[in-house]
Amino acid sequence: MPTRILLQIDNDPQPSSFDSVVAIDAGAEQLLRYGNVQPDSVVSLVHGAMFTRGGEDLRSTAIFIGGSNVKAAEELMATVAKTFFGPVRVSVMLDANGCNTTASAAVVAAARHIDLRNAQAVVLGGTGPVGQRVAQLLAHDGARVTISSRSAERAEQACNEVREKLDGTQQLTAVSSEQIKADISILEQQQIVIACGAAGIELLSKEQIEELPNLCVAIDLNAVPPAGLGGIAVTDKAQPIGSGVGYGAIGVGGLKMKTHRAAIQALFESNDQRLDAIEIYGIAKNIG
Ligand SMILES: NC(=O)c1ccc[n+]([C@@H]2O[C@H](COP(=O)([O-])OP(=O)(O)OC[C@H]3O[C@@H](n4cnc5c(N)ncnc54)[C@H](OP(=O)(O)O)[C@@H]3O)[C@@H](O)[C@H]2O)c1
Repeated sequence: MPTRILLQIDNDPQPSSFDSVVAIDAGAEQLLRYGNVQPDSVVSLVHGAMFTRGGEDLRSTAIFIGGSNVKAAEELMATVAKTFFGPVRVSVMLDANGCNTTASAAVVAAARHIDLRNAQAVVLGGTGPVGQRVAQLLAHDGARVTISSRSAERAEQACNEVREKLDGTQQLTAVSSEQIKADISILEQQQIVIACGAAGIELLSKEQIEELPNLCVAIDLNAVPPAGLGGIAVTDKAQPIGSGVGYGAIGVGGLKMKTHRAAIQALFESNDQRLDAIEIYGIAKNIG
């Protein structure tokens, strides 16, 4: 078996050291790191990966796409996919800013406490890359999902973007924080609350969470004080809160890290894998 080579392609000037460490821990034997990669400069990198080895050996080369700009990383992913043809391809994974591994770990943690089919879930601050993926994965498994934002338009736009990634049968509703304030029943019906707001922003207080009558699980993905969900510590893992349990960002972090490593390992199993939100969620589910 040839050396396992991972091309780490990143849209930031310096490729993420976090992603490099995880790649090496997951068994990448040679890591080729490229920063500041744009769609027009990625093609030659992909050619270098796909034209140097042939047949079975192609599975020992893979591509990881990262960077803090998730939209730009999605464009890179689309360009990479278009560059392949027939069997002349290598496996590729997108986890820019940890969006897919973090969202996957959060939804798997939620599913430990409630059957997602027909569960009522709200994704607070759900317009960002992590929130949209959390909403996508919850809806994919049958939950009825509400996305909240400070702006009704941005919430609706996020719902539309999530719908485009699904088959159209899923239930997604947009609400603004003003609507939530004006109508308490929007929160009261929720069984799953996942806070995906920007770092260091409280979205719900401890009292608000404790008053939710149907709450099964509340997850806060913000690791920067103050907590996104009051009363949930960053290390909490299935700690009782109100009528349910709570997880903090580090509480779901163990599963996120395992998922990231397992996804890198999966890249080297064949040369035709495209690991994005749903595929990485599948890997997280297998870990549990
Ligand atoms: N544990 C991990 O490994 C890990 C990995 C990645 C991310 N994270 C965390 O996961 C969370 C979501 O990540 P992300 O990259 O999706 O976040 P993001 O894009 O930075 O922010 C998500 C949303 O937060 C809302 N927001 C921004 N400023 C706000 C404010 N002052 N008040 C209320 N809402 C505000 C915005 O929605 P609107 O403007 O539409 O209201 C924004 O779309 C973050 O806390 C991040 O730190 C954790």
